[in-house]
Amino acid sequence: MDNRSLVSIAGHSREKLLYLIDMAREFEAHPNRKILEGKIAATLFFEPSTRTRLSFETAANRLGAKVIGFADPKVTSGTKGEILKDTIMMVSNYADVIIMRHYLEGAAKYASEVTTVPIINAGDGANQHPSQTMLDLYTIYQSQGRLDDLNIYLVGDLKYGRTVHSMLTAMRHFNPTFHFIAPDELAMPEYYKQYCTEQGIRYYEHKDFTVDTIADADILYMTRVQKERFSDLMEYEKVKDAYLLKRDMLAKARPNMKILHPLPRVNEIEYSIDDTPHAYYFQQAKNGLYARQALICDALGISLEDVRNDKTIIP
Ligand code: CP
Repeated sequence: MDNRSLVSIAGHSREKLLYLIDMAREFEAHPNRKILEGKIAATLFFEPSTRTRLSFETAANRLGAKVIGFADPKVTSGTKGEILKDTIMMVSNYADVIIMRHYLEGAAKYASEVTTVPIINAGDGANQHPSQTMLDLYTIYQSQGRLDDLNIYLVGDLKYGRTVHSMLTAMRHFNPTFHFIAPDELAMPEYYKQYCTEQGIRYYEHKDFTVDTIADADILYMTRVQKERFSDLMEYEKVKDAYLLKRDMLAKARPNMKILHPLPRVNEIEYSIDDTPHAYYFQQAKNGLYARQALICDALGISLEDVRNDKTIIP
C-alpha cells in the first residue's frame, strides 16, 4: 500500500537523508513541543529492546503524542494464535503510526503492505534497522562535521548485524571506504559485498584487529555478537570473544576517531575506554531521540518547514 512507511533506509536519497538530519538537529535544539498533539503512536515490540523502544516512546511523548503498545509479545493475543496481519489491522484502527520490531526478516515490509497506517521498522531480524542508521548518520555528521569520504570500520557480527547492513545501504551516497573485521563465521554476507561492488563502495576485509589495523579509522563501529541469532550455542561460544576492543589499541588512533556501537554491549568494548575522547556510543544513543523524532514526524507528513515554523515549543 502507498504510505509513508520506513521499511528500509536503502530507498532514501542523499537529499532525503540530509533533510532528516536537518530535522533531527531542530529537535536537538528543542526536543519538547506539542507538534504531535492529538496523535497516537503504537510501539509493537516482538523482540526485546531498551534504546529503540524507549527512545521512540520518549520521542513521541516529548512531541505531545500519546503512546500505546507492548514490549513483550507474550502479553498479546499472538499467544492465542492471532497472525501478524490481524494484529496490524487492529492496531491500525487505534494508532496514527506503528513502530514495530519483529524477529522475522521482512515483517516490517509485510506490515506496510497490509495497512495504510505508516509502519516504522524498528528492526526486522538480521535484515534492516533504518532508525538506528538515521541516528548513526546523525552521530557521524555531528562528530566528524561531514558524511563524505570517511573511513568506516565495521567490527564484530557483520553476518547478523542489521545495523551494519542498514548503514552500508545509506552510506552509498557519501563515498565511504569500509573495512570489515569479522571472524569467518560472522563475515559480511556475499549479498552485501555484491551490493558494495554494484554501488561502487570500496571495502576491505581484515582478520587482524590491532592498533595498526584501526589507525586510519574515522569511525570504529563495534557490534555485539548476537547470541540470540545462533541456533547452535557451541558456534556462539567459538566466536563470542573474537574481536574485543582494548584501551591500548587506541594508541595510534586519529585524534577525532570516534567509537560507535548500537548497544547493548557485552564485552566487546573494554569499560576503561568509556572515559576516552574516542568513546561516543552514549552520545550516539542519546541522538536516537532526535533522529526518531524526525522519523515519526516524517512518517506523519510533518515537514522540516513545519518543524521550523512550529510555535508549540516548550522551553
Ligand atoms: N540499538 C538497539 O537497537 O538497541 P535496543 O536493542 O536496546 O533497542
